[in-house]
Amino acid sequence: MSYSARDDRPADKTARYAEVHQEIVAVLEGESDRVARMATVSAMLADAFPQFFWTGFYVVDPAKPGELVVGPYQGTLGCLRIPFGRGVCGAVAAAGKTRIVDDVEAFPGHIACDSRSRSEVVVPVFDAAGTLIAVLDVDATEVAAFDAVDAAALERLVAQVFAA
Ligand code: SME
Repeated sequence: MSYSARDDRPADKTARYAEVHQEIVAVLEGESDRVARMATVSAMLADAFPQFFWTGFYVVDPAKPGELVVGPYQGTLGCLRIPFGRGVCGAVAAAGKTRIVDDVEAFPGHIACDSRSRSEVVVPVFDAAGTLIAVLDVDATEVAAFDAVDAAALERLVAQVFAA
């Protein structure tokens, strides 16, 4: 059976997220390296949901406060740097709150790394101390691919993987 980000059966999407969440946690057991954790989350999410066109992290650059730098991802070439406040990722980093964008072309200041991306969900990633360390960005080529089920599942995943 295959699943899309916007499944007509919300229970199935929830179940798929629960399944991949468990698989990711199992794979990462005993591995504390942050790059390894981000790379594994990107790869396993992208594999679990074929509609995820771009799946990955923009990391808060410790050398340049207020700037995100691209981290581990799966997908086509991503922009390298995004200042806080710019585009969807920058808005999420600045506010520390998840955003679902149904149509990126209607989002002021959206950064078009790849014009095929049409909708996205971006989730802030905090460490155990509550400090913002990154954002998780998931893009799809169809409009309105993401809803509150995606947002909640991805928030729960990054909390467990990076803040537990
Ligand atoms: N969608 C992002 C830019 C990064 S990529 O699409 C890979 C944004 O506007 O924040």
